[in-house]
Amino acid sequence: MASITLTDIVKQYGDGYPAVNGVSLDIKDGEFVILVGPSGCGKSTLLRMIVGLEDITSGELKIGDEVVNDRAPRDRHLAMVFQNYALYPHLTVFENIAFPLRLQKGRYTEEQIKDNVEFAADTLELREHLDRKPANLSGGQRQRVAMGRAIVRDAQAFLFDEPLSNLDAKLRGQMRTEIARMQRRLGTTTVYVTHDQTEAMTLGDRVAVLRKGELQQVASPRALYEQPVNLFVAGFIGSPPMNFMPGEVHGDTLRLPFADLPMPDGLRERLGGRELVIVGLRPEHVEDARVLDDHKRAAGTTFEADVDVVEWLGSELYAYIPFETHADVAAKLEELDRDLDGEGMRTQVIVSLGSESRVRDGSRATLWFDPRRLLVFDPESGENLTYDEEAARRIDSETEEDRRAALERAQRDTARAGERESVSAGDARHRAG
Ligand SMILES: Nc1ncnc2c1ncn2[C@@H]1O[C@H](COP(=O)(O)OP(=O)(O)O)[C@@H](O)[C@H]1O
Ligand SMILES: [Mg+2]
Repeated sequence: MASITLTDIVKQYGDGYPAVNGVSLDIKDGEFVILVGPSGCGKSTLLRMIVGLEDITSGELKIGDEVVNDRAPRDRHLAMVFQNYALYPHLTVFENIAFPLRLQKGRYTEEQIKDNVEFAADTLELREHLDRKPANLSGGQRQRVAMGRAIVRDAQAFLFDEPLSNLDAKLRGQMRTEIARMQRRLGTTTVYVTHDQTEAMTLGDRVAVLRKGELQQVASPRALYEQPVNLFVAGFIGSPPMNFMPGEVHGDTLRLPFADLPMPDGLRERLGGRELVIVGLRPEHVEDARVLDDHKRAAGTTFEADVDVVEWLGSELYAYIPFETHADVAAKLEELDRDLDGEGMRTQVIVSLGSESRVRDGSRATLWFDPRRLLVFDPESGENLTYDEEAARRIDSETEEDRRAALERAQRDTARAGERESVSAGDARHRAG
């Protein structure tokens, strides 16, 4: 296992287009890092450079303490799991998993190969499928075989390129928890590429958000959610996505399409002389004022809005509220939507209300939010003017503590299970290596 350090990594393909542009990233030993961003932002290119399938145009790549820019893939000791599994149809599950060991002719005894494959099969709950052929397995099982092959190699790190995108939604959720469990149990450094923000948020210790080959922000999922550095990250993380509205500054008042807000403390300064800003508000931070107690209601701002459509989802409901946008921010938001692979102009707000809300299609609703939840962005640069670096750092260090504790717990449990097994089997099993 090892750390992976990227310094100013650039990739220009033949046509000169910088698919990856100056990416620096420190991946700690044992860490689970996600590379996320819309299609075409350079995720696969970055991963392929790490594993050695693609030359690095400039910059430095280290695995552990060694610079590996010019090392052949097999000398980097990394294990890559692809989207399409790349299994051998004529080989059994056992032989598919054993394959990387058999490739290194003479290095492992038959006994060692068996030990290693069985260890991987136990980790992935594939024990009873070892004699089957890939064609007879479900998508999720095939995915596990591909992971088993990565495990037996005893690699320095696991690299995943959108491994779950061929699976249906339910299985994706299942495999997600399985990958997380496997990573905790083995404590292996992992870099995982996905375009899916839910996957990124649920799996990663830290998430690196890429846009057009450039790193936007690297932080824990919660820090990305609460303290995004710019419009792009704010719009990419969260589902349904953050609402963006024009905000006009009139003296000490911030005028939103639905309400005039007295400016919260400190915001005035952060705005500088700006007269127009983009205001962000997450759907889940709006509530139906009618179901709130007076105390909570008084602590925030209420406004009236005409609801267009309501979607009821059981645990919550989404209400869509059209609004007049401002020509000067419309262009910026359209550009943002293109970057995010979005569905066109955002001239409606989505609010996510508790399912006890009686807001319905076509009704006039009284809605509530806490103005301290608002994020304010520069309309030109997209920078988050309300970004709180101190808060972001605090969240990151809490997440790091939690991660260490989880890793220790998982490894203690594995060690205990191992002791039980070796006692009952009466032999001291050891992994070949
Ligand atoms: N072999 C290649 N030759 C030229 N351009 C490429 C090649 N592979 C990828 N690209 C371009 O590099 C950019 C990043 O691609 P990629 O890393 O595959 O993105 P992602 O995995 O995030 O979808 C895209 O614009 C893509 O068209
Ligand atoms: Mg890709």
